[in-house]
Amino acid sequence: MRAYDIILKKRKGNKLTKEEIAFFVNSYTKGGIPDYQASVLLMTIYFKGMDDEETANLTEAMMNSGDVYDLSSISGKKIDKHSTGGVGDKVSIILAPLVASAGVVVPMMSGRGLGHTGGTLDKLESIPGFRTNLTKDEFISNLKKINVAMIGQSELIAPADKKLYALRDVTGTIESIPLIASSIMSKKLAEGIDGLVLDVKTGNGAFMKKERDAVRLARVMSAIGKKMGKKVVALITDMEQPLGNTIGNSLEIKECIDVLKGRGPQDLINITLELGAYMLKLAKKVNNAAKGMDILKRHLFDGSAYQRFMEMVELQGGDVRAIDNPLLLPSARYTKELLSEGTGYISKMDTEAIGIASCMLGAGREKVEDKIDPAVGIVIDKKIGDKVKIGERLALLHYNAEDRLAEAYKKLQGAYLISSKRPKKRQLIRRIIMA
Ligand code: URA
Repeated sequence: MRAYDIILKKRKGNKLTKEEIAFFVNSYTKGGIPDYQASVLLMTIYFKGMDDEETANLTEAMMNSGDVYDLSSISGKKIDKHSTGGVGDKVSIILAPLVASAGVVVPMMSGRGLGHTGGTLDKLESIPGFRTNLTKDEFISNLKKINVAMIGQSELIAPADKKLYALRDVTGTIESIPLIASSIMSKKLAEGIDGLVLDVKTGNGAFMKKERDAVRLARVMSAIGKKMGKKVVALITDMEQPLGNTIGNSLEIKECIDVLKGRGPQDLINITLELGAYMLKLAKKVNNAAKGMDILKRHLFDGSAYQRFMEMVELQGGDVRAIDNPLLLPSARYTKELLSEGTGYISKMDTEAIGIASCMLGAGREKVEDKIDPAVGIVIDKKIGDKVKIGERLALLHYNAEDRLAEAYKKLQGAYLISSKRPKKRQLIRRIIMA
């Protein structure tokens, strides 16, 4: 079998066999197919698509590219959550310890920044010393001790996703239902869970801009999960503006600490509680999501979730002093205000542009080997529906490199639409899809 023939077959719009897909995934993971051929195949899949059977075969091949963990030695249901990617989406970092503090085992495998969106691993690694590359034994031991561990794909678990994810990040091949579905589901199925809550984002900051595409993605992922005997619930949620007020790695960790201390923005709190409530329901801790919300609110506001987060940081090698005192987290040398040029209401935000502006400051990668700057990003002062006056601050850019500022500033400046009419309030949770 040759990668060249597989590329040509897909280019002609034909369906790939299970064997061809497995050959591509295994050879690429082991270094037998170069990045240029893998990039072309990804782009061809982006344009020509894959049917449900091909997507399921791609997922299975990626899952089997490394170990598939057996967590049966840990008692209780193991439930995870995954987001399809958003701007300012830091939910996992609050949610995992919160749900763990309520008695559910949360083995969470996350990703790095992808395109204009941030990644949980990059955010966590802005905590000095925090390790996301736990060994299997450490992962299981931490889950037994505190119900939660947060790791990334590695050479051992879902290595195909690790490589393909990094390649998609820099080749414009992210927004594809089969590629997103297989990326998410392969790592989730490899981590030994019983159930999964999916946060499928839709809107101008999501990979699925249209709600009907988000619903289709949710259905494809749910069907793959169901086929593998996992319980899946998908929430379709709004990404027409950043989640919370911060974008950028350590800035987002600071906001997570705020929420875990019972403060922080309401949209971030609400979505976290809602997703967590479905995790509790899948774990059979409650029989309806409303009861789950009540339990989680208690654990968030009585400090249990914060305590669990501290324990997780400590067990994963992070410096807990930086959680106690966020001034010890990386912070940028300079800031620059973005001021409003009009008076009225914020009626639209180009969320993807805001994510790109943060990447331009150094929070994301342009090439696979790029190092991100954990300190840079954007703090948003005004969001949709807020009233602003000319000269009032819309956002604050945090930056380290002078030569990165101008382009990012211009991008951010173009991301706000101000009009005289107050826009309709946005609904954060748009739909819930049960498999
Ligand atoms: N999250 C993932 O893990 N993979 C994607 O492709 C998109 C979001």
